[in-house]
Amino acid sequence: MATATRPDQSQQTVNLAFESHYDMPRRTELPVRGELPTWLAGQLLRNGPGRWKFDGSEVNHWFDGMSLVHSFDIADGRVHYMNRFIESRAYKQFRSSGELSLSEFASDPCRTRFQRIQSVFRPQVTDNPAINAMKFGEHHIALSETPMAYEFDPTTLETVGVAYENPDTFATAHPHLDGASGELLNLSCKFGPRSSQSFFRVQPDTLAQMRIARLKRQHPTYQHSFGMSGRWLIFTEFPFRVNPLDILRSGRPFIENFEFHPEEGTKITLIDRETGAIGGEWQAEPGFCFHHVNAWEEGEDVVVDLCRFEDVSIVENLYLEKIREAGYPEDSAAYLHRYRLKPGAERAEEHRVSEEPIELPRINYKENNCRPYSYVYGVGMGHDGGVPFDRLVKIDATWGSATIWREDNCLVGEPVFVAAPDAKAEDDGVLLSLALDGEAERSMLLVLDARDMTELARAEISRAVPPGFHGNFSRS
Ligand SMILES: [Fe+2]
Repeated sequence: MATATRPDQSQQTVNLAFESHYDMPRRTELPVRGELPTWLAGQLLRNGPGRWKFDGSEVNHWFDGMSLVHSFDIADGRVHYMNRFIESRAYKQFRSSGELSLSEFASDPCRTRFQRIQSVFRPQVTDNPAINAMKFGEHHIALSETPMAYEFDPTTLETVGVAYENPDTFATAHPHLDGASGELLNLSCKFGPRSSQSFFRVQPDTLAQMRIARLKRQHPTYQHSFGMSGRWLIFTEFPFRVNPLDILRSGRPFIENFEFHPEEGTKITLIDRETGAIGGEWQAEPGFCFHHVNAWEEGEDVVVDLCRFEDVSIVENLYLEKIREAGYPEDSAAYLHRYRLKPGAERAEEHRVSEEPIELPRINYKENNCRPYSYVYGVGMGHDGGVPFDRLVKIDATWGSATIWREDNCLVGEPVFVAAPDAKAEDDGVLLSLALDGEAERSMLLVLDARDMTELARAEISRAVPPGFHGNFSRS
């Protein structure tokens, strides 16, 4: 695997982003450089790992850090900021004992031989909800691939408790929202002697759940997200799969039980959103993906866009040890990839849309989810490797051309799109990204004009905080 050596300053920036942090629970006004649009008013909530280490004991992987929720309140050209850890069982026990007590994505607690045998019968899965934060109905929830979603107070960020439990052992942290009903739709996975993967919906008021479809799978694939068009749920099974008994028996952390089988290719299944009926299955080239981007129907065809990796090496590359290495692999980038599913065809038509690497993709979700669209925004990296997430990119999803914002020694987080209230075009709005200025050793809320990717303003935090994974903006 080809690697690129980072300059010292870039390496320091990367190291700073993965240092463990204390929270900042006091709401503080941030100095703003530049000018925020007068119409921009509301709250950006973000979530991601913020602490990987207690008392010298460190987890293994970026995904295993403890959930830190960030809040940016924006109004009248001013920004107030705070952050706070979600008080999950995993976090409280890690904090008090300095030892992991529950199994994370790629880290397991130290167990005696007796405890290991016990855990086969009573698996202790984490409740650390460190991937996403969103407003769902009147609930504010933090999510990961854990068996439950946590609710928190949007004003204080204090943990309220478990919002709801998933129907199965795991579910993705990337549910879709049904624009008409307000329901949340998600994909779960049950591991066991009779494993299955299910789509389910959650009511916004009562949080009551209903299963839409259950698909039996002897060796379930790893699922981080799924696609949704007007009529269909899109289940993309890249060949990174697990024998569920290995999770119980192997003694290895969760993700290390999965194996990549490129010879099996990828299977894409359409499931009717209303009835749960299967609408067709297609084969595609092998690969791997964390994030679907968008999907829609064109006549009888269904078009699906996602950020595709060639293989699963990205999972390995996000171990903290690897991230902190000076040489980061050049070929660990994802690219915007498009499938066309035609009725009656066995194989999906597929092609790479753009040669510009992109991950943590966002679109103008309210206007364009489930519909043809023109633009996807995300984080990128140079073609020479070096520093992942060193730029924000906007890709024209029709032609593949890209517009980029970057600054030396700046590490960026997922760009959240917020439309202007009187928007005349899909990209009429701003992008909000929690970025880290490595040279100044502090983070900032970066505000870009989504039309041309120019900087409008930055609101500076007094110190460095981790950029995290995902978040959402609610208008006030
Ligand atoms: Fe994600």
